[in-house]
Amino acid sequence: MTSGGGPDTLPFMKVRIAPSLLAADFSKLGDEVRAVEIGGADLLHFDVMDGHFVPPITVGAIAVRDLRKGTRLPLDVHLMVDRPDDLVDQFIDAGAACVTVHAEAARHLDRTVRYVKSRGVRAGVAINPATPLNAVYYVLGLVDIVLVMSVNPGWGGQPFLDYTLAKIEALKGEIRHRKLQTLIQVDGGVKLDNIGKIAKAGADIVVAGTAVFSTPDYAVAIRDLRATAVAALQKQ
Ligand code: DX5
Ligand code: ZN
Repeated sequence: MTSGGGPDTLPFMKVRIAPSLLAADFSKLGDEVRAVEIGGADLLHFDVMDGHFVPPITVGAIAVRDLRKGTRLPLDVHLMVDRPDDLVDQFIDAGAACVTVHAEAARHLDRTVRYVKSRGVRAGVAINPATPLNAVYYVLGLVDIVLVMSVNPGWGGQPFLDYTLAKIEALKGEIRHRKLQTLIQVDGGVKLDNIGKIAKAGADIVVAGTAVFSTPDYAVAIRDLRATAVAALQKQ
């Protein structure tokens, strides 16, 4: 029934849904945020791209500051930027609940993670599809979230890379083996037809951009994603 068989497995049955605002309509961002909040989102995923680490440029801390005023949902900031150390303060000051930096971009990852935590917010480390898990092993006990990219970062609407499932499974095994509380977040290409296997592999938080914002009813999309994930976990 459950993956581990004991009562301590119950928290793993919860899968949090984080709609990615990258796929929202930026001409009415406040309304989009309210709609997913009412629709049952657990947190809001906010993608920051700098035109260097990834080609596109999105938006900065000012948007986080203003969105913060209109929602109670935690703002989960995914920094796809070079030199994240130069930017983390801006996003924390703007009201981010969680700041995630890429292992490939943070030269002194341990220092950056410790700094983010010292500012009283959750710290996440993201790894690109081709980056080995070793990149996070030594900071695994320090970070709150490991974000496993399941597409190459930079754009929404890309197909999920199936080989990342093995990486999610291996990471979950390591977290359980070390009895850590670290959460696994999976970002990119999550859809109704694959969220079950993503949850079974060990995702605690799934980011969903187009799977939410390209549908006519966000509440239905969020509900169906969560229900499909939970059903897959119950079948294990
Ligand atoms: C991609 C971003 C994702 C993106 C996901 O670089 O980090 O958060 O918005 O979009 P979907 O869910 O459409 O793949
Ligand atoms: Zn993201």
